Amino acid sequence: MNSMKKYGKVIPAIADEIKQIVGEKNVIYRNPEAMVQYSHDEVAGPEYAKMPDIVVKPINAKEISKIMKLANRETIPVTPRGAGSGLSCGAVPIYGGILLSIERMNRILEIDPANMTCTVEAGVVTNQINDAVKEHSLFYAGYPMSLETCFIGGNVAENAGGGKAVKYGVTGRYVLGMEVVLPNGDIVMMGGKRVKDVTGYNMLGLMVGSEGTLGIFTKIILKLTPLPKAKVALLVLFKTVDEAIDVVPALMTGSGIIPTAIEFMDKLSVQTSCKYLNEHFAYEEAGAMLIIEVDGSSEKEVEEQYDTIGEICMKKGAIEVYVADNHTTSERVWRVRRNIAEAFKVYSPIQSLEDIVVPFAQIPDLVREVEAFSAKYGVLIPTYGHAGDGNLHSTPVKPPEMTMEKWKEILPLLLKELYQATFKLGGTISGEHGIGYKRKKYMTLVISKELMSLMKSVKAAIDPKNILNPGKIFP
Ligand code: LAC
Ligand code: ZN
Repeated sequence: MNSMKKYGKVIPAIADEIKQIVGEKNVIYRNPEAMVQYSHDEVAGPEYAKMPDIVVKPINAKEISKIMKLANRETIPVTPRGAGSGLSCGAVPIYGGILLSIERMNRILEIDPANMTCTVEAGVVTNQINDAVKEHSLFYAGYPMSLETCFIGGNVAENAGGGKAVKYGVTGRYVLGMEVVLPNGDIVMMGGKRVKDVTGYNMLGLMVGSEGTLGIFTKIILKLTPLPKAKVALLVLFKTVDEAIDVVPALMTGSGIIPTAIEFMDKLSVQTSCKYLNEHFAYEEAGAMLIIEVDGSSEKEVEEQYDTIGEICMKKGAIEVYVADNHTTSERVWRVRRNIAEAFKVYSPIQSLEDIVVPFAQIPDLVREVEAFSAKYGVLIPTYGHAGDGNLHSTPVKPPEMTMEKWKEILPLLLKELYQATFKLGGTISGEHGIGYKRKKYMTLVISKELMSLMKSVKAAIDPKNILNPGKIFP
């Protein structure tokens, strides 16, 4: 595989052919103004954006198949795109070419309460799935933090995580079947509504988390879970980051309870998000805090759980435990947490949102490493994230007085050291956002030569011309 090889351009004759496939109104061509929103995801910075030659909005697998066949014939790169809410430039068309947006493929095709599944097109906004299945007392538990904007197809492509991985795991656990268009244009069905299936290789598992490089998902069959009857969020305040983070392993192993979520936020993260939301809380001044959520089949069960957890927190030095036991208060707390990334984008746009992950018992060690690098490099590294599953979004931020030149020089050094330290703790460089374009040069720090070579052979076998989302994952 040679990603430096010359790709074909979308010349007017090819654009016409594409218009024949999807209809003229579903194509954007030679209109930079309309195209610019498709040139980037949520990673800020001009070096992380690239204009496609053409934006194409197909409506089904058949149209996508035709586009892939054309792209093969002309050796034109195709970059699939969901909502563009990604955080690793997975949907950025690094080599130009065709940007394939699944935004029109947004139907919920079937809810099957008897089998506890639902079948959706890949461009459905993830939260809409939960809105739709609620009336059957079911929910889709794989959703990530960006649920109000992201598409399920993008979630599957990144194997998105989120806050509830502690109890419910990540997206991949819920994908039972998919219709996929392969790079050569073949349309294949993998899996189905079956809980068990060992018929041949686990191709479904390979597609999940493939970051748009192995196939374009068109239909997704999701496993649903009974909607918990009761749910409570605890907001636990601590004087210091160390105190808050030290509680996490104790909660995971000492309570006999599997919480839904254990989220961590340091002071700067909370304050920035509150400012962004114009929200005021008495607890903004705490040094750090945890949001711990528990759910269960009765209020009594949930009450017992949060009593136990609250006690452990108080014993370990918490200043205060607030109980958010109705939808409004709990939503208020979670909104602050969900909006941290957006808030930093607004107030500290020159930053690098990281996604490091370690085995959860190593979370306190990781936080101490982050603190040490912050001191060593003289940059703020606000930290928040999914402490219960070991996944932190430490975000180095350029200090106002530092020159851009200096920042660009030190950031790669800082990241390299941070990644190496994470690796030493048994961790890796991305837990849920993916490698994409943003992190590919760091892959060799955590993936062996042999494993990389295996990954490359898989890519070459499925996409020999390297036209599906080139420029991603591999350094
Ligand atoms: C979050 C996103 C950034 O956890 O993954 O807020
Ligand atoms: Zn996250």
